[in-house]
Amino acid sequence: MGTRRNILLDCDPGIDDAIALCLAAAHPEAFRLLGITTVAGNQTIEKVTENALRLSEFLGLHAPVARGARTPVIREPLTASGIHGKNGLGDVLFPRTTAEPVKESAVLFMRNRIMELPPKEKVTLVAIGPLTNVGLLLKACPEVRERILEIVVMGGASTGGNVTSNAEFNIYEDPEGAAMVFLSGLPLVMCGLDVTEKCGLDREDMELLLQRGGRVSEKIGKMLQFYLDSPGYRSKKAASIHDAVTFMYLLHPEIFQGEKMYVQVDCSRGISRGATVCDRRSGAPGQELPVLVLLDADTEKFREYLLEGIFSLDEKKEL
Ligand code: RIB
Ligand code: CA
Repeated sequence: MGTRRNILLDCDPGIDDAIALCLAAAHPEAFRLLGITTVAGNQTIEKVTENALRLSEFLGLHAPVARGARTPVIREPLTASGIHGKNGLGDVLFPRTTAEPVKESAVLFMRNRIMELPPKEKVTLVAIGPLTNVGLLLKACPEVRERILEIVVMGGASTGGNVTSNAEFNIYEDPEGAAMVFLSGLPLVMCGLDVTEKCGLDREDMELLLQRGGRVSEKIGKMLQFYLDSPGYRSKKAASIHDAVTFMYLLHPEIFQGEKMYVQVDCSRGISRGATVCDRRSGAPGQELPVLVLLDADTEKFREYLLEGIFSLDEKKEL
C-alpha cells in the first residue's frame, strides 16, 4: 500500500460523484479526506451541496462541506437533470442530515485547509465537476501551488464528447475555469471520456447491488437503475461511472494506461467550445508535458474493485 494521501474533493453530486465518494469512504487507509467542496454542475449549487452533506454523513465520511460556485466563471450554468434526476441523485432519497456547510466558501476553504497542512505534507486535489472552484483557487491563491502534489480531474476527452461531439460536460460547462487549471503547469491527471467510457457498471451489476440489499448497495443500485434508464445510457450495455475513475486511478494505477500530453481548452463560443485539445508533441526542451491523459483501463478490474468497495461499506458498522 502507498502512503495515505491528503485529499480535497471538488464535486457536483451527481450519481457518479456519489459512487466516487463510496470509493473514498471504502479506503480510509489510502485517503485522508480533508473536505468536500461543491460546484454547480449536474444540479444547482443548493442541490449538490445538500447532496454532498447527506452523502458525507451516510457514507461515514463526516467530512466538512464548503459551498462553491453557483455559476461558471463566465458562462451560464447548465444542469444535467435528464441524467442525474431532479435531486441530482437519480431521485433516490438519502437520509436528511443536520450538518450544514462550513462558513468559508469553497475557494477559501480549500486554501485554508491546504495552508494548514504540516510543512512537509501536500494535498491531492480530486475534481469531478466543472473546474470553476479549482481554477479560481489556483488563480487567486498562488501560495497553494507548492503544496499541491497533483490534481486528478474527471473531464475532457482527447477525442469526442458527451455534451457536443467535441466536449465533455465538466469542461463544456466552464471552459474558462478548466483553462485556468490546464494552463497552471501543475501535475495533472486527466480522466477523460477516453478512459471513463471504458469504466462502467451494467444491469447485472445493478441487480447484484439491489439483491444484496445492503444499506449502501441498495441506494447505489437504485441510483444506477435511474442512470441506466436515462437518455444517455438506456440504449447502451453499461453506464460510465466517470467520476469513480479518479479515486480508482489513485488506488490502482496499474489498471490504467495513458500518455503525457500538453492540453489546451477551447474557450470559443463555437461548435468546439470546451474541447480539450491534446498535443502529444514534446514540450520545450527539459520541460515535462504537464498532463497525464488516461486513455485505457482494465474494464473488468475497474468493475471488480468498484463493487468490492461498495459492498465493503455495507459491512461497516461505524458509518
Ligand atoms: O461528463 C461526465 C461528468 O459530468 C461527470 O463528472 C458527471 O458527474 C458530470 O458532472
Ligand atoms: Ca461530477
